[in-house]
Amino acid sequence: MPESDWPGLTEHKELYFVTNAEPATKPTASKGGLFSDLKILWHMAVTGGRGKTHEERLENFYSGQAAGYDAFRKRLLHGREELFASLPTTPGGVWVDMGAGTGENAENWGERLKDFSKAYLVDLSSSLLKVADQRIAARNWQNVSTVHADATKFLPPEGAADIVTFSYSLTMIPDWFLALDQARRMLKPGGILGVVDFFVARKWPAEGLTRHRWSTRTFWPTWFANDNVFLNGDHIPYLQSRFETVVLQQHRGTVPYLPLVRAPYYQFVGRKPLSES
Ligand SMILES: C[S@@+](CC[C@H](N)C(=O)[O-])C[C@H]1O[C@@H](n2cnc3c(N)ncnc32)[C@H](O)[C@@H]1O
Repeated sequence: MPESDWPGLTEHKELYFVTNAEPATKPTASKGGLFSDLKILWHMAVTGGRGKTHEERLENFYSGQAAGYDAFRKRLLHGREELFASLPTTPGGVWVDMGAGTGENAENWGERLKDFSKAYLVDLSSSLLKVADQRIAARNWQNVSTVHADATKFLPPEGAADIVTFSYSLTMIPDWFLALDQARRMLKPGGILGVVDFFVARKWPAEGLTRHRWSTRTFWPTWFANDNVFLNGDHIPYLQSRFETVVLQQHRGTVPYLPLVRAPYYQFVGRKPLSES
C-alpha cells in the first residue's frame, strides 16, 4: 500500500478506503478519580439534559461536569488523537472545531497548532467554553479563540475555513445535517472535513460498510439517548454524499464501567470537491 499524503494513514490507489477493523481500543488512565467519575455518572444518568431549548439542555447537562469532563471523556471518546494526527494542517490557514467543548482537540494537533493563522473553538455550552478559555490562557495560544455559537450557523470572520472538524459533536447536534451543510459552505474548495463520532449502521448498509446486529442497533441508540446523544445510521451515507471520502474507518471502543460491551464509532476524513466554490 503506498504512503498516503495523510500522515499516519495509508490509502489505496482509489480515492478512498474503508476499514471495518475493530481495534482493541484501551482506556487510558483517568486523572479524574472515582469521586469525579461518580459526579459525572450522576449528571449523565440523572440530572442533566433537561431544558426548554437545546442550549439550555446542553448547559444543564454540562455545567456540573465541566471540571471532570476531559478525564472521563478520554476513556469514552476514542479515536480523537488518531484523527488529528492524521489530518494535514494548512500553514496560515483557518481551522474550525464545531462543538469543541473544552478545546481538548486543540491539544491533539501538538506543535502543529501553530501552523494555523486562526483556530475557532465553537460551542453552545458556556461551561465547557470556560474550560477551553482557561486552557487557551494557560497554553498562551495566541491564534485560538472560543466562540459561543450554534454549529449550524457559525461562519468564521475570514469567510472561509481550510479545515473543519466535528469530534463527538454531530451526535449531539439535533440538525446535524445542517451543521455539515454549514461546514461544507465555509470550506474552501479542496478543504478538509474531519469527523469522529459514535454511530450505528443502517439495517441494510451500503456495500463495504460495517453491519451491526439488531442488539447493537437497538442498545446503543437507547443507552446514549438518555444523554441527548443520538446515534444515527445516516451520518456516514450523508458525509459520503456531500464530501469526497478520503478515509473512513469504523471501529468499536470501550465504555467506562461497561466492561462487556464496546460502542461503535467512526472516523471520516473528507474533502470538498475542488470544482465547487
Ligand atoms: C460530546 S461533546 C464533544 C466535545 C469535544 N468535541 C470533544 O471531543 O471532547 C459534544 C459537544 O457538542 C456541543 N454542541 C451540541 N450541539 C451544538 C450546537 N448546535 N452548536 C455548537 N455546539 C454544540 C456540546 O455543547 C458539546 O460540547
